[in-house]
Amino acid sequence: MANVAVIGAQWGDEGKGKVVDWLASRADIVVRFQGGHNAGHTLVVGNETYKLSLLPSGLVRGKLGIIGNGVVIDPEALLAEIARIESQGVRVSPETLRIAENAVLILPMHPALDRAREAARGERRIGTTGRGIGPAYEDKVARRAIRVADLAEPATLASKLDELLLHHNTLLAGLGAAPFEKETVLRDLLALAPPILRYAEPVWLRLDEARRAGRRILFEGAQAVMLDVDHGTYPFVTSSNTVAAQAAAGAGIGPSAIGTVLGIAKAYCTRVGAGPFPSELTDEIGRMLGDRGNEFGTVTGRRRRCGWFDAALVRQAVKVAGIQGLALTKLDVLDGLPELKICVAYRIRGEIFHHLPAGPEAQAAATPIYETLEGWQASTRGARSWVDLPAPAVKYVRRIEELVEAPVTLLSTSPERDDTILMRDPFEG
Ligand code: IMP
Repeated sequence: MANVAVIGAQWGDEGKGKVVDWLASRADIVVRFQGGHNAGHTLVVGNETYKLSLLPSGLVRGKLGIIGNGVVIDPEALLAEIARIESQGVRVSPETLRIAENAVLILPMHPALDRAREAARGERRIGTTGRGIGPAYEDKVARRAIRVADLAEPATLASKLDELLLHHNTLLAGLGAAPFEKETVLRDLLALAPPILRYAEPVWLRLDEARRAGRRILFEGAQAVMLDVDHGTYPFVTSSNTVAAQAAAGAGIGPSAIGTVLGIAKAYCTRVGAGPFPSELTDEIGRMLGDRGNEFGTVTGRRRRCGWFDAALVRQAVKVAGIQGLALTKLDVLDGLPELKICVAYRIRGEIFHHLPAGPEAQAAATPIYETLEGWQASTRGARSWVDLPAPAVKYVRRIEELVEAPVTLLSTSPERDDTILMRDPFEG
């Protein structure tokens, strides 16, 4: 039986929450493997809306959720999120949540540095979520990070904080921001230790057992391929690898256990934050997509930039991340438009490219080459079968499949979990 990894194929916010929730109901374990509480997943279950940032979506379904070592964990944010969903009636305990003992912690100086740096960048800012994700990953690769397991060792904590604060306070002072006091940080961390440590363990051992017992594992990606620190529109990216291969390293499991790679893409395209977006629409249609698609960031509340579906971009994501099937979401947002455009390639300084090259100037200069397709008037909202779709909508989806070189295996037609057209069960490989 195959496991499944779900990742975003554009710039995030593709509607992963709903697809992951649907898949989670068919899995035994759901694992987060990168990112942090910069992610935002909205799950609609009956009358209840759950907003998750750090917790694996399966928790809401009573499945075991695992936060892998590849995630950066803000302990305060984690405990607040647990309290929030418990107040909505979801029980969270060490039976339903486990966190990797070797995951890196986000501490208060990380968001402080994130925000101070963004402010100093001015026009060149990345548009980060301000949650300290980048600075925490920087500390990880610089080998000075504080990890979950350190919470059980007060002496380790105290000596690591010396090094950490030397680094961060120097930077913060240079940026004109307030420094942090060791005693305060240490005291707060020690207070957070017991409620966090009750969930901590070597999750790789549990995952190994689960794999050998043939249990279904769902790897839940955050952000998306075009925000990947290597493969995305660098430097306008997040600070982790978001491709499916990261599921193995970020959970502590072999690559053969990842199973089927499912990419999620919207039937159009959005982006929050700054950076290149060749098919962006700054006109009335862009505004209409944003209003109809309710395109406001779950984490930031910022209005998302909107544009036409970019097949060249998604094809690139399919190739670099090994996406085997695509879940296409929010098709209904396109209902009623007389015609639709799909970006098939880019023109960059007079030359045609079928991919987005790595140079920031080339990316900024990329203008879309469009193919125009007929729109449809009938509503596709809530469609649950292929035959419920108007012919031009079927044509639109088929054309996307051809252009991105991957089959559409799942089509989502409303935020409701059951308004889904399934072409192939990802768990069946
Ligand atoms: P950071 O991850 O907070 O460092 O932000 C880096 C970039 O990734 C910014 O453009 C953010 O808007 C974007 N980003 C981070 N998380 C998400 C997400 O969950 N959805 C969409 N964009 C995100």
